[in-house]
Amino acid sequence: MKKALVTGCAGFIGSHLTQRLLNDGVTVIGIDGFIDNYDVAAKLRNLAEIGKHPAFTFHSTTLQTGRWDSWLENVDAVFHLAALPGVRNSWGKSFADYVSHNILATQELLEACLQRPKPPVIVVSSSSSVYGTMQGIVTNENAPLRPVSPYGVTKEAMEQICSVYVKAYGLPVTMLRYFTVYGPRQRPDMAFHRFFRQMMKGEQVIVYGDGQQSRDFTYVTDAVEANLLAAQHAVPGDIFNVGGDREIKLIDVLSIMGTLMNLTPRITYQNGPAGDSLRTCADIQFAQQRLGYKPKVTLEEGLRHQLAEIRSQSKG
Ligand code: UGA
Repeated sequence: MKKALVTGCAGFIGSHLTQRLLNDGVTVIGIDGFIDNYDVAAKLRNLAEIGKHPAFTFHSTTLQTGRWDSWLENVDAVFHLAALPGVRNSWGKSFADYVSHNILATQELLEACLQRPKPPVIVVSSSSSVYGTMQGIVTNENAPLRPVSPYGVTKEAMEQICSVYVKAYGLPVTMLRYFTVYGPRQRPDMAFHRFFRQMMKGEQVIVYGDGQQSRDFTYVTDAVEANLLAAQHAVPGDIFNVGGDREIKLIDVLSIMGTLMNLTPRITYQNGPAGDSLRTCADIQFAQQRLGYKPKVTLEEGLRHQLAEIRSQSKG
C-alpha cells in the first residue's frame, strides 16, 4: 500500500491508524469534519504530531461536502472511521445526525469509490453495538443483529449498504466490528477516560447500572492492526469481530484501575441512559483465521498506557 485515505483521522482510532500508516511509509490523505460530538481541542491534539508529517495531507471537512475525485486519486486503500459515535446520545433529535454521518456519508463514499477506474480497498469501521446484549459464551459474526440503541441501528444499516455494494458491484469492502476500544486519546465520553479523570480529581466514579455489565475491551493499537490486516487479506464482503484479550465486568476494571492508581475508587451507581448493552464478548476466530489477527495488549497493560497519557496531559 502506497497511499491511503483515512476518514475521521482526527478521532480516537483514526489518529492512531494515521500515525501507524505514516510510520509504515504510506502517504496519507486525512479527512475530518470536526463534528461537534466532542471538544475540538482534543481532536487538534490528536493531530498535533501527524500534522507535521510530510507525507500527510489534511482536509478539514465533512464527507458530505466531499471532493472525492481529488481525495481518491491514486489511493490504494480507504479506512473509513468517520462517524457519529456513542450509544447513549443517539436518541431523540440526534438520530437524524447519526443517520446522516453513519449511513448517508458511507453511501457517498461507496459511490465515489465505485466511480474510480480501479476502486480502492475499503475498510469500514462498524461496532459490536450491532449485536445488542450478547447471549451464549462468545458471539461470532453470524449471530443475530439485535441492536439496543439507535446508534447500533445506524451501524447495522451502514453494514447493509456496504454489503449491497459488494453484492451488486463487487466493490472491495470489508467491515470491522470493534468491541469498546480504549487507550490513549480515548473519546472523552467513554467510560475509562471518565473514570481515570474522576479518580484523579478525587471525585466519585459514576457507574451506570450495577457495574456488572461486561465488555470485551479492545486496545487501540490492536484495532489499528486489524485495519491493516483487513486491507491486505480480507475478501470483499467479509465482516470481522475485533475483540480484546478477554471479557470483563466493569466493576472488575475499576478495581484494576484502583490498583494502578493506588486508591480505592469511590463509586456512585446511577440508572444508566438507555441503549447500553449488558454484555459483549467477541468470538475472534474468523479474524484469526483469515487475517491472522490476535490482540496483543492485555487490559492491564493497556490501562497503564491510558493512565500515563491522562497523567501527562493533566501536568501539561
Ligand atoms: C463504545 C463506543 O462508545 C461506541 O462508539 C462503540 O460503537 C461501542 O463501544 C462498541 O464497541 O460497540 P460502550 O461499550 O458504551 O460503547 O463504551 P464505554 O462508553 O466505554 O462504556 C462502557 C460501559 O461503561 C458501559 O456499560 C457504560 O454504560 C459504562 N459507563 C460509561 C459508565 O458506567 N459510566 C460512564 O461515565 C460511562
